[in-house]
Amino acid sequence: MIEIDNIVKSFRDARAVDQVSMVIEPHTICALVGTSGSGKTTLLRMINRLVQPTSGQIRVDGKDVLNAPAYELRRQMGYVIQGHGLFPHWTIAQNVGTVPSLLGWSRADTDRRVDELLELFQLNPATYRHRMPHQLSGGQRQRVGVARALAAKPNILLMDEPFGALDPVTRKKAQEELRIIQQKFGTTIVLVTHDMEEAIELGDRIAVMDKGHLLQHAKPAEIIAAPATEFVRELVGTTDRAFRLLSLAPVGDHLEAGTAEGEPLDASCTLRTAYSELLWSGRRAAPVTRDGQVIGIVTLEGLGRLAARP
Ligand SMILES: Nc1ncnc2c1ncn2[C@@H]1O[C@H](COP(=O)(O)OP(=O)(O)OP(=O)(O)O)[C@@H](O)[C@H]1O
Ligand SMILES: [Mg+2]
Repeated sequence: MIEIDNIVKSFRDARAVDQVSMVIEPHTICALVGTSGSGKTTLLRMINRLVQPTSGQIRVDGKDVLNAPAYELRRQMGYVIQGHGLFPHWTIAQNVGTVPSLLGWSRADTDRRVDELLELFQLNPATYRHRMPHQLSGGQRQRVGVARALAAKPNILLMDEPFGALDPVTRKKAQEELRIIQQKFGTTIVLVTHDMEEAIELGDRIAVMDKGHLLQHAKPAEIIAAPATEFVRELVGTTDRAFRLLSLAPVGDHLEAGTAEGEPLDASCTLRTAYSELLWSGRRAAPVTRDGQVIGIVTLEGLGRLAARP
């Protein structure tokens, strides 16, 4: 669990991060979105102590990161730097093996891990391990950046716009790979992105920042159905897909089994209406009727899952 507790970071007199508090549950993906300069990278860098907060505290599994030994942080957290951040004069293998080497792994163990990761990201080790970063495409470099962050099997992955340079098809694949890795290893991920679609696709929770403030931290469907501010509404408005999905599909097509109390919803009303209705009335579920007969229920959780994975 990552607990961010009333964090402020000032550079000279300007606040890059202003009283941000949130909890990131283990084994979840938190997508951090917001305009350029809103403090996303700064917040991420405070989690792994590359930047020290002006005030407030960040705890990982209950321990203040400022007290953790550097070794412990490196082992525990992988960091994908914005714009890949590979060392230009190091080979791909040296880049991917950076943290294992720092941690004193044997040469053989490091080599094995590097090859395993290159394979995982569909970069044939025989072809790529001895290349230099400039001999790779932008998308390949980004994948190497992600591989490097995963090298020491961290249980926390901090990713700063990791897929920005990828074309839509490769990006989609990379997102799927990330999901698979996350589910397989139970990694906790904080993913900075400026792409709301990506945030909805990958985030179990989305955190929206503007001018250093955290405006909302909630499940994707909740952000869509009940944006906390006009800014959040605008940001969400840029993503047609989730909206369309919730707006077009009738509740009757997504019934769940079970029972629920209160005013029923008609099977023909849209998922979006159902979602607003539930949030508005403070219920977690509602019965659904067709021709006056109860035919199932609709739940907040079920709608959340739908909006998260259209
Ligand atoms: N080392 C620094 N010294 C002074 N100001 C800084 C420093 N790092 C960041 N800032 C300022 O803090 C603010 C937040 O920067 P940050 O890099 O966290 O934004 P961001 O949300 O990641 O933006 P982007 O989407 O463009 O990457 C900006 O106004 C930036 O100029
Ligand atoms: Mg940034």
